[in-house]
Amino acid sequence: MKLLVTGGAGFIGSHFIRFWLRRHPSDEVVNVDQLGYAGSLERLTDVESHSGYRFVRGDICDSDAVHTLMQGVDGVIHFAAQTHVDRSITDASPFLRTNVEGTGVLLRQAHAQAVRRFIHVSTDEVYGPVLDGAVDERAALSPRSPYAASKAAGDMLAQSFFHTYGLGVIVVRPTNIFGPGQLPEKLIPLCLTHAYEGRPIPIYGDGLQRRAWLFVDDLCDALERIMEQGSAGSIYNVASPQERTNLETVRRILQLVDRSTDLIQFVMDRPGHDRRYAMDDRALCLLGWQAKTSFEEGLSSTVKWYWQHAEWWRPIVQALRENPYHWLNRPFGSGSVQTSGAVV
Ligand code: DAU
Repeated sequence: MKLLVTGGAGFIGSHFIRFWLRRHPSDEVVNVDQLGYAGSLERLTDVESHSGYRFVRGDICDSDAVHTLMQGVDGVIHFAAQTHVDRSITDASPFLRTNVEGTGVLLRQAHAQAVRRFIHVSTDEVYGPVLDGAVDERAALSPRSPYAASKAAGDMLAQSFFHTYGLGVIVVRPTNIFGPGQLPEKLIPLCLTHAYEGRPIPIYGDGLQRRAWLFVDDLCDALERIMEQGSAGSIYNVASPQERTNLETVRRILQLVDRSTDLIQFVMDRPGHDRRYAMDDRALCLLGWQAKTSFEEGLSSTVKWYWQHAEWWRPIVQALRENPYHWLNRPFGSGSVQTSGAVV
């Protein structure tokens, strides 16, 4: 089987490539990645010498390049995306370009070359906040950040290619993922790297927003099952029962690394901040999937990894610090933003 992985130098994409090649050593995997700010080939040094692996630097919006890459491909797994909500608040345009236009280019080329399977990796954020209970795949979409809206547009475009052309599209909506090698702009690695350097850890608003965490290997396992057994035209949520407030998550990390909670600094809330996401993933469980890694196990291996790989994240953290989000420049209390009915 020949797979085209988009965004394979990113956090989840790189874990997926490693996972896939370990389990399917005779497959061919082509990784196309633009190597933007979130891409790093250092994540893949251990698979570079695998005979079935090939890296191509390229932009998914480049139709000619995608046309060439798609030749002879049996399945596409599309991770390439702008993924950080805070960035989308500062500037939505890269999100529209990659997540909508780029997805459209891939879909058109996959259709033109009769690719059998197209897995579109989306997000639970397309459902918007879920204050009680959990939503299944039939729930209406209500994205609230430019990031989530761009992903929802990509989802719909992908599904339209199934309905209109019969392309073997499957949309996957994962919960919050964490693990080694995640870019330190996301909450868990941000907290770890700040704790390591003794810097304050910004908690947006009251820190009582809830997120359900899943270890990255469990997502790779879900994606493999979906690739092999999922039905074309379907949507699969990938959920986690491991729900915590952000404050609980940060406090637990500080405890694990033996740092004081005095590092916690409450800052202005993220505009439009979703309080909670929660999904029902019975459709995926029917394929035999079940998460194998507890939050505690995943967190302790993640902590260990960041503690041992400061040389990887230090320059990244430095570069990220040079471009702070404009809306985050004010300390808590100096501005006011309407969030979920409460003024913070
Ligand atoms: O739910 C899936 C989504 O999870 C993915 O689709 C997104 O690509 C991914 O970025 C993630 O979105 P979140 O906004 O939930 O993740 P993030 O790590 O940015 O933030 C997690 C929570 O922590 C969120 O409630 C905001 C809060 N937070 C985040 C940062 C970076 C803080 O309080 N302080 C921070 O400095």
